[in-house]
Amino acid sequence: MERGAVISLFLSLFVSVVASADIYKDPSQNVEIRVQDLLSKMTLAEKIGQMTQIELKVADNTVMQNYFIGSVLSGGGNLQSAALATRLQIPMIYGIDAVHGHNNLYGATIFPHNVGLGCTRDPDLLKRIGAATALEVRATGIPYVFAPCIATCRDPRWGRCYESYSESTDVVKSMTDFIFGLQGEPVSKTMGIPFVANSSKVAACAKHFVGDGGTMNGINENNTIIDYNGLVSIHMAPYVDAIAKGVSTIMVSYSSWNGEKMHANRFLVTEVLKSNLKFQGFVISDWEGIDRITNP
Ligand SMILES: *[C@@H]1O[C@H](CO)[C@@H](O)[C@H](O)[C@H]1NC(C)=O
Ligand SMILES: *[C@@H]1O[C@H](CO)[C@@H](O)[C@H](O)[C@H]1NC(C)=O
Repeated sequence: MERGAVISLFLSLFVSVVASADIYKDPSQNVEIRVQDLLSKMTLAEKIGQMTQIELKVADNTVMQNYFIGSVLSGGGNLQSAALATRLQIPMIYGIDAVHGHNNLYGATIFPHNVGLGCTRDPDLLKRIGAATALEVRATGIPYVFAPCIATCRDPRWGRCYESYSESTDVVKSMTDFIFGLQGEPVSKTMGIPFVANSSKVAACAKHFVGDGGTMNGINENNTIIDYNGLVSIHMAPYVDAIAKGVSTIMVSYSSWNGEKMHANRFLVTEVLKSNLKFQGFVISDWEGIDRITNP
């Protein structure tokens, strides 16, 4: 045997050993099998790290590697840390959308807010705005936005009412076409599966699950007092549309439902959202939402 042939035989053996050891790296395998393989090989520390999103100010290459950090948040108005990220070459996985003032730092287009867009009753316009926003966010190196807010605002005293498309659930439902603009439009056989078309698009985040626009006296992050049927028909219905349209992530609400904090609500987040509505994307907590479950 030629030396070259020995080496290539060795290489092909090596490759096949690696392939059988790391099923999760093999794109020809079934996704569920790959996920199971990867999870079975992860340590607890890796799992915790991957679920953790830290602020850019405390992120450096050592922290990212030592703690297996899953994602980095570029906090609102944080121009200095954006420059820092570039210097450290930290991948900016997650960013805050124009709603909270990330992209305006780069001179991006500022569109009318959701309450005004809802008044247009024009889902196609929303789709085009979503597409423009995706391009501008992607141009800053960020592949994820915390939008759209699909709250149904039932009390105009709520300070974040302008982030809601409407008091009408039907209007909010139709405006979820914004997600098509941000992520691209899945073909029918992939409807309902988290979807980002390509590198001109960003992952969207439908928020805040659920009942954020229904709090008592419009008090921000307060208590939404309503029976289950009311919660579903007024506040949850737009999530059914968002999931069907391929939304990749859903953020949990600070608010409570009948006195129980949404961040602690296993029934609504796990049973209803993941099992019944079959949401397969990421569920993300709101800023320190886990910390706020208890006091202290
Ligand atoms: C990305 O996907 C969008 C929506 O499907 C499509 O219009 C666009 O042409 C694609 N861009 C690239 C660079 O492939
Ligand atoms: C609602 O707001 C009131 C007044 O600020 C506060 O005392 C109460 O704890 C809040 N309830 C919830 C569930 O957040």
